Amino acid sequence: MSQTCVEVKSEWSIVAARQAGRTIAKEIGFGSVDQARITTAISELARNIYLYAKRGQICIEKVVLVNKVGIKVSALDKGPGIKDIRKVMEDGFTTSGGLGAGLPGVKRLMDEFSIDSTVGEGTIINAIKWVR
Ligand SMILES: Nc1ncnc2c1ncn2[C@@H]1O[C@H](COP(=O)(O)OP(=O)(O)OP(=O)(O)O)[C@@H](O)[C@H]1O
Ligand SMILES: [Mg+2]
Repeated sequence: MSQTCVEVKSEWSIVAARQAGRTIAKEIGFGSVDQARITTAISELARNIYLYAKRGQICIEKVVLVNKVGIKVSALDKGPGIKDIRKVMEDGFTTSGGLGAGLPGVKRLMDEFSIDSTVGEGTIINAIKWVR
């Protein structure tokens, strides 16, 4: 299975990214609870793209290793970037009056999580969840 990417540029496209995630998670074999975790993570990442970068992409793909199978969610944007990555990973840190729960939540919901961001260039967030 190849990568599926959804353009994030409106409220509706956040829903579309979420639905694409559910379909692929189901195909990979995740149970309904993990499907919900994955779609929640996708919603948070897509919402951040829309809010902070205006537009970007959510890409979803199946990951197959020798001993495990999972789903990889990538959030990519060419927005303002993140100055202090450690800070945005703290519960409650927000620059928009939100709850500041989005990114720490995504990290908890998924098994692997990384942020690569450059101020003025954009942000790439990768998260993986493995089928158990
Ligand atoms: N794609 C992004 N580009 C630039 N800054 C971002 C991006 N995603 C998150 N941030 C920054 O990280 C902060 C924390 O994000 P997080 O999703 O955890 O909380 P929030 O969006 O502020 O609130 P919540 O998601 O709980 O409604 C944001 O306030 C914003 O400053
Ligand atoms: Mg958020």
